[in-house]
Amino acid sequence: MADTSTRTDREIRHVPLLEPLVGDYEERCRTFSWEQARGLLAGLPGGGLNMAHEAVDRHATGPLRDVVALRFLDRGQLVTELTYAELRRASDAVAVGLQALGVDPGDRVCTLLQRSPELYLTVLGTLKAGAVYCPLFPAFGPEPVFERLSLGKVRVLVTDRISYERKVAQFRDRLPHLETVLLVDGAAAPADDDADAASGARPEDTGSWAAMVESATAALDRDGFRIAQTRPDQAALLHFTSGTTGKPKAAVHVHEAVVAHHVTAMYALDLRPGDVYWCTADPGWVTGTSYGIIGPLCRGVTVVTDSADFDARRWYRTLQDERVTVFYTAPTALRMLMRVGSQMAHEYTFPALRHVVSVGEPLNPEAVVWGVEAFGLPVHDTWWQTETGAIMVSNYPGMAIRPGSMGRPVPGITAAVLERGPDGRAAVVHGHVRVLTEPDAVGELALRPGWPSMFRAYLDDPDRYGACFADGWYLSGDLARFDADGYGWFVGRADDVIKSAGHLIGPFEVESALMEHPAVAEVGVIGKPDPLAGEIVKAFVTLRAGYEATPALQRELITFGRHRLGSVAPREIAFDPALPHTRSGKVMRRLLKARELGLPEGDLSTVEGQP
Ligand code: WT7
Repeated sequence: MADTSTRTDREIRHVPLLEPLVGDYEERCRTFSWEQARGLLAGLPGGGLNMAHEAVDRHATGPLRDVVALRFLDRGQLVTELTYAELRRASDAVAVGLQALGVDPGDRVCTLLQRSPELYLTVLGTLKAGAVYCPLFPAFGPEPVFERLSLGKVRVLVTDRISYERKVAQFRDRLPHLETVLLVDGAAAPADDDADAASGARPEDTGSWAAMVESATAALDRDGFRIAQTRPDQAALLHFTSGTTGKPKAAVHVHEAVVAHHVTAMYALDLRPGDVYWCTADPGWVTGTSYGIIGPLCRGVTVVTDSADFDARRWYRTLQDERVTVFYTAPTALRMLMRVGSQMAHEYTFPALRHVVSVGEPLNPEAVVWGVEAFGLPVHDTWWQTETGAIMVSNYPGMAIRPGSMGRPVPGITAAVLERGPDGRAAVVHGHVRVLTEPDAVGELALRPGWPSMFRAYLDDPDRYGACFADGWYLSGDLARFDADGYGWFVGRADDVIKSAGHLIGPFEVESALMEHPAVAEVGVIGKPDPLAGEIVKAFVTLRAGYEATPALQRELITFGRHRLGSVAPREIAFDPALPHTRSGKVMRRLLKARELGLPEGDLSTVEGQP
């Protein structure tokens, strides 16, 4: 690694090595340093750093000021555009409005919104106010929403009226930290008596987003605004994720994560000024913020965002008509396009498209090859996690792709696979883990801490945070292998979390919700392989005495799950009068899964009733 400690900031900024990574991977790994990467950003006086300043403000006064930063397509194809200069002013106004509400540095501001200008402005305004932005996936049902608002001690929620009435109002009394709810479609209108009683929503419980922005804009014009002078290690983002057991975990990311967002958006996504970039991930998940907002704006590109749901024709038309140059999507979406057939792709042309990238779940080799057929470009895989905050392993543009491989570690990242212990975590012997150096040895994928976008905590949960590290390594919970040339191959998860359509689902959260149904005595939830979504959520239920295992009850439980959980609800329910247990009495999901797959049931030594 180059020693940059004696260089001035100005010199660092002109190091020629930090240009898009095409072809010279080894050389770049040798010479890369995070200090150099930091030097590519502007920073704030006195060593401060603010994500929104890097993403927006520094462009708003330079040559990119009149470039379109965000281009919103709504369901009806209506377009709203904001240039970098406009985005700066509009997000300043949101910051002023939040501060006027009493939002202090460190306070959490949450969105439960469809992809819309209000969502993006809330993200940037929150960061500018020095507060912490926490996204919620709009397809979550009331229970996951309540759980996260509660665990995150969220102070301000920006949402729409229907989401508020359906998912939040009923829990408002149990959310003591939630001081302000702003509705993007105005304050809740007085509903008729019945609906009002049912939802528990009272208009005086909510405020109007538009009214806040209007008065804040007047204040901005009168008094101006100075972006919060945040420190690099100050919390900026809170992303919920799930594990095998327990409640969702809130991964804390700090402002200096922007250093990794920026440099990986350059290396792995190949983004440069002039690009038109489309990331199909919802901002309710980490990809939609790191690479739907912060990373690409840092690169000065035009970010296209579409509020409509998946539709193959619409997607091809968007790629063509918007002249998208870089496309970041997920394997499930690619499989949905593949299912329609490449014929449809050939009804469109994509002369502007230069780079197609994927994340979130294993990318089938066929999808890589199909990219060539449909777009004339192979699909490049990237691997990372909510906890890593940014891409860690990638097939770079210009690098030979091995279809089915995730690619190679990002310059600045040290990755390895570690021997696994019987509990699925890395085995620690005498305080040390064993790193597997033989090519193709399968172990737990681990990273050396020290990259800027590494999560700094699980909020209020130091024990679970500590459990992610052993002997100076961060343990990912994934199983992988590296081949003799250093390409990484995903093998599977070391734990019980479920990946459905690229979204991580914690089985415990689903089980807890189903347990609330009076017919359910016990439940175990697994991911069942699915050709399209990768996995779907399947629940095995033992009924209480007096309930009969009928198709009607099956349907009732599916509906019950959907109403409470939304997108994370089980798609299939099976009745099982005798769920397998460990000696300590826990349902053995691993065994349920083995049975579902028709696999050997493995080591059953800890299963109840076994010798
Ligand atoms: C888990 C992380 C990556 C940001 C969005 C998801 C799986 C991720 C790949 C890939 C195979 C992948 C892993 C990982 N995953 N990328 N390229 N190939 N699996 O973040 O929700 O925290 O999920 O997604 O299992 O641990 P996340």
